[in-house]
Amino acid sequence: NGELLSWAGELSPVLSPVHIRAGDSLSQVLLGHTPLLDEQAALSALESAVKAYNLGRGAWPSMPVLERIQHVEKFLGLMQLQRDEVVRLLMWEIGKPYADAAKEFDRTCDYIRDTIAALKQQDRDASHFIIEQGSLGKIRRVPVGVALCMGPFNYPLNETFTTLIPALIMGNTVIFKPAKYGVLLIQPLLQAFLQSFPAGVINIIYGRGRETVGALMASGKIDLFAFIGTNKGASDLKRMHPKPHRLRAVLGLDAKNPAIVLADADMHRTIKECVAGSLSFNGQRCTALKILFVQRSIADEFVSQLTAEVSKLTAGMPWQAGVTITPLPEPGKTGFLTELLQDALSKGARLQNPGGGNSVASFFQPAVLYPVSSDMRLYSEEQFGPLVPVVPCDHISEVIDYVVNSNFGQQLSIFGQDAIQVGELVDIFANQVGRININSQCQRGPDSFPFNGRKDSAEGTLSVVDALRQFSTPTLVAAKYQ
Ligand code: G3H
Repeated sequence: NGELLSWAGELSPVLSPVHIRAGDSLSQVLLGHTPLLDEQAALSALESAVKAYNLGRGAWPSMPVLERIQHVEKFLGLMQLQRDEVVRLLMWEIGKPYADAAKEFDRTCDYIRDTIAALKQQDRDASHFIIEQGSLGKIRRVPVGVALCMGPFNYPLNETFTTLIPALIMGNTVIFKPAKYGVLLIQPLLQAFLQSFPAGVINIIYGRGRETVGALMASGKIDLFAFIGTNKGASDLKRMHPKPHRLRAVLGLDAKNPAIVLADADMHRTIKECVAGSLSFNGQRCTALKILFVQRSIADEFVSQLTAEVSKLTAGMPWQAGVTITPLPEPGKTGFLTELLQDALSKGARLQNPGGGNSVASFFQPAVLYPVSSDMRLYSEEQFGPLVPVVPCDHISEVIDYVVNSNFGQQLSIFGQDAIQVGELVDIFANQVGRININSQCQRGPDSFPFNGRKDSAEGTLSVVDALRQFSTPTLVAAKYQ
């Protein structure tokens, strides 16, 4: 509500995935603390957002678009001054390699600039009238209401801001809860929020989900729920809203994106894309390639070349140049990955790279597993980490069955050079996933492209332009002239 409040209640320590050695033991670096707000504090933030939404003419929701844009421009200018600090925290809090952390920051600023440009364009285009059967109408795009925005730990800035910025710029008032890991990096931006937006327009809360966002949902006063994270997290929260039919949800959820490597694929390029697609940021991307189906005639050769490339990846601290494998922020993650690995090994998969799957503290060495089959957990469960399962396949129908029967439908990649065959597969898969990548890894970017998915992978579409629609709604103003 336009002020920075101090908190005298419980605090939660924020630990880095980076460990330091003290004597014989390794311990996580303590980065700071965040407040664990209680239900009352969360509801007070909600009250501020509700009040700011209902202030009447000229307030944030009804402010002229160009004026609202000026607030966001001011925020962008102040945010850019915090680049070094935010990038440093991205490295320390979630172990993101420096180059990727810097890219995430710059990409987020570009996204804000593109959103401003798209809204200015939309504002110019909105001046036309509809004339029909004696009625004159004009459509205004107005905000949806009070928005709750929550982002994921792997892109705590970019993914979060691709909901937060459109929500704000379209006139919604917002409650924003930063990701659990990647929470401190919002602190250098608090002053920028404070100085750029009217009181109550953006309210930032911290704390345990059940006490904070649980209470917000149960109040029934959240109109728009923008959430990027797990399916379970989204469903649990949505269920708490007493009137789910009144809740607009924009969700980016779980995925198990397959690559399909056809016999005539360009091997060099395919390997490069599959390694980056599977292992960038340790495979902790919703858009990562999570299972590779390879036509049997080239599978052995593919696995041998893939393994050679994976073996070249360097592990190290996020600030070291050229590292790919960095510490994982989620507690218990190495244990989960080890379980998936052991399950696959016990059912006949072979570990291709010596040392793969070894873990020390929060490091986990990437592991290539082959041949993977349908009885293994890795075949259908999302690993969200550095495990690369390869499935040899005799008939393309096996992959088609996989995609059709999967609970997920975010993206897939097809690698092959026969345009007719690739085109036929595109036709088959187009109604199953949100994006089909040809001879390239799965990915969200460029952020102006639509980002969505089917089944349990998403609800709604995000892109610069789609988000402007997703975070607003049309109101028709009509008059009879006859
Ligand atoms: O985790 C999901 C992100 O949207 C991935 O984005 O494909 O650009 O890495 P990206």
